[in-house]
Amino acid sequence: MRTEQPKMIYLKDYQAPDYLIDETHLTFELHDDHTLVHTQLVMRRNPELDASLPPLVLDGQALELLAVALGDKELSAGDYQVDDNHLTVHPASASFSLDTSVRIHPETNTALEGLYKSSGMFCTQCEAEGFRKITYYLDRPDVMSRFTTTLSADKLAYPILLSNGNPVASGPEGDDRHWATWEDPFMKPAYLFALVAGDLWCVEDKFTTMSGREVTLRIYVEPENIDKCQHAMTSLQKSMRWDEEVYGREYDLDIFMIVAVNDFNMGAMENKGLNIFNSSAVLARAETATDAAHQRVEAIVAHEYFHNWSGNRVTCRDWFQLSLKEGFTVFRDSGFSADMNSATVKRIQDVAFLRTHQFAEDAGPMAHAVRPESFIEISNFYTLTVYEKGSEVVGMLHTLLGPQGFRKGSDLYFERHDGQAVTCDDFVKAMEDANGVDLTQFKRWYSQAGTPRLAVSEAYDAAAQTYRLTFRQSCPATPDKVDKLPFVIPVAMGLLDSQGRGLSVRLQGEEGDVGTSRVLSVTEAEQTFTFVDVPEKPLPSLLRGFSAPVKLSFPYDRDQLMYLMQHDSDGFNRWDATQQLAVQVLQELIGQHQAGQPLVMDPRLIRALGTVLDNPELDPAMVTELLSLPSEAYLTEISEVADVEAIHAAREFARKQLADSLFDTLWQRYQANRGVSKTTEYVAEAEHFARRALQNIALSYLMLSGRPEVLAAAQEQFANADNMTERLTALAVLVNSPFTAECDAALATFAEQFKDNPLVMDQWFSVQAASPLPGGLARVKALMQHPAFTLKNPNKVRALIGSFAGQNLINFHAADGSGYRFIADLVIQLNATNPQIASRQLAPLTRWRKYDSARQALMKAELERIRASGELSSDVYEVVSKSLA
Ligand code: TRP
Ligand code: ZN
Repeated sequence: MRTEQPKMIYLKDYQAPDYLIDETHLTFELHDDHTLVHTQLVMRRNPELDASLPPLVLDGQALELLAVALGDKELSAGDYQVDDNHLTVHPASASFSLDTSVRIHPETNTALEGLYKSSGMFCTQCEAEGFRKITYYLDRPDVMSRFTTTLSADKLAYPILLSNGNPVASGPEGDDRHWATWEDPFMKPAYLFALVAGDLWCVEDKFTTMSGREVTLRIYVEPENIDKCQHAMTSLQKSMRWDEEVYGREYDLDIFMIVAVNDFNMGAMENKGLNIFNSSAVLARAETATDAAHQRVEAIVAHEYFHNWSGNRVTCRDWFQLSLKEGFTVFRDSGFSADMNSATVKRIQDVAFLRTHQFAEDAGPMAHAVRPESFIEISNFYTLTVYEKGSEVVGMLHTLLGPQGFRKGSDLYFERHDGQAVTCDDFVKAMEDANGVDLTQFKRWYSQAGTPRLAVSEAYDAAAQTYRLTFRQSCPATPDKVDKLPFVIPVAMGLLDSQGRGLSVRLQGEEGDVGTSRVLSVTEAEQTFTFVDVPEKPLPSLLRGFSAPVKLSFPYDRDQLMYLMQHDSDGFNRWDATQQLAVQVLQELIGQHQAGQPLVMDPRLIRALGTVLDNPELDPAMVTELLSLPSEAYLTEISEVADVEAIHAAREFARKQLADSLFDTLWQRYQANRGVSKTTEYVAEAEHFARRALQNIALSYLMLSGRPEVLAAAQEQFANADNMTERLTALAVLVNSPFTAECDAALATFAEQFKDNPLVMDQWFSVQAASPLPGGLARVKALMQHPAFTLKNPNKVRALIGSFAGQNLINFHAADGSGYRFIADLVIQLNATNPQIASRQLAPLTRWRKYDSARQALMKAELERIRASGELSSDVYEVVSKSLA
């Protein structure tokens, strides 16, 4: 909680640290009602600065200082200054040691930052600025140190004692306690520190690195979860191999550990050698986790593992550079997931997510550049922009430099900066130097917020056989900047002829064979490319693979989109053409609804999707993506003013039309795939994910028919499925159906069967919270009283509250403002216990500019109420004040 007015921190104010910490020796005495932390820091004046000895100002929050010594001298009250955030001492020589002892209270830490307890075990979360809640320190990523950690705790309650690096010694302490010492040979900033003490079991395996070193791999979990670790272990081994093969990166310690904890603010954390994971990002087995959960585990295990190089060996100089590690690591984990599954489907899912959620962030009050220039609370900047758009920026470098050029750049980056804390500029510099290119203009992607628009027009000259494409780019104003300079926008493209073939894409002045696809670099506000020897007016396929995070517009008509759907050689663009067609059709329906007209749907969309469904050659995962209509959230994002009711009505109408028109094929494909699922054992692999995905989307369409045979099929699948993917979909279609009695029966059966598995109960909460049927808020409020629910657990908050406000738009945006009031009440409550979670649940209210004036007023009133509610954490304060600015 804040005691002074939160203040803005600026990148331009960055200064190198006055002092360095060569060694950090930590001793933790863990007790049930307090913990003592003794810290010895071996320090020296930063040799890059002058020889003066300024005061040493250490970060520290909520610490009870027990003793402090500078060198051999115990300091007394007059020798140092303490306030709520700092300890200041006055060194008398350039090299010295500093000893502190503090008392902290992990047992009452509900913010889940620093040292805290989760399900009876001790664990830590130090990124970004949690270490200062453990001990006095220079808690900034450019201060890197060698850590030695000793922990002692009750032997029975905490048989496992872990920290970063290698175990070096352990032993008993009195009758009941024991201790262990860990040494991390690698220099690291404090945000990568971790410790764990608990009653844990582990699954152990091995990995032999490319140079032949054997690494021990361990996944620690609570005993009842020991049967749910295999998927994460396999994912880890695949990640380690992939990073060697694709990036040439080898693991560097003799042991790599993952610990699963139930109470965690985010997905997982890459602490050196000791990753700590939200249990939802580790535990997975067929009976309890969906296919999506399996894929999420694989991706997050990879992400955290990849951080060992992109984040740990090379870290960030300051938190403004967060995307240096996060954008790059997301790019790396996306490449891994693409290689493990279908690359096109992975790209489709990533782009749909980016366009829906990151674009909305980029257009809202919290919009910021990939490298922000200021912040109040860094926890608020672990955003879709820093992560997902940051990954797109790295992806554009990959597109512009090609796979080999990119690899040369990443090799140089890792080699040049190993052991350093660096900036996004250093990353781009390595790419430039390795490839002999100038990326000055490209770097605007790091400094300019907002989603660029790229409007494209064409002109064909039959006599000259030339085809011109003119690109006009612009970028809307964002809270940080009004006028934007042109970006470098790589546009991967091709030209289709009337036979569905790719034409040569030769530009004026070029010789020889240039092939049928290329990447145009759009660098100016307006720029024309002239293609020559174009025998007929072509249809352009633009931004293939979504080669840049922009909003592209080209005046395609619906027949042209259907043509691209069928003939484009780029799988991503075939999907995108389908989406654009669906958007046009849905927007027409939205217009009809608003005009009070009867809804009439363009039959071309039905025909197009019917063709997709009839095509046995298509990957079922791709069919599933093609059949998925743009979400309500996406339709909201692309609306000038989002009409909540019209969007919902139009989309539901379209789904019903599709279900009725395509009933027979859907039914046939459902039955065929359910038949295979029934007779094959569950396998967590792409081909099986794909089959179940198609089976399940078919079931959810079929259920809209209300026919008794579909109800029976859903009940059969619910009762007999041997895996959570099929069971949960069956539950969801029942929950969203008018069959109330059958739904209630299924919900009760499910809850009884899984009441002891919190992760499964999260899915049970989430399915109900997301149901668009009337009365959504009342259902959510009732569920908050369920014994399995607690506001103390972030997964529960996300499952129930997050799903309601994020996915159940028709209920959340109820015209009476009840949804807004509910979220505001919760934010006020969570602000006092867990500011990070409070601030995240606030996001839907910050989007008020998208709605009609009545809803705007209601949403703003709730933001005002939060602002006036008393002592706000810096997290909530920043989001509320920026949203109302
Ligand atoms: N670095 C983590 C990641 O891999 C992010 C993270 C985990 C985090 N826990 C956190 C960030 C708590 C802020 C607060 O993406
Ligand atoms: Zn990360």
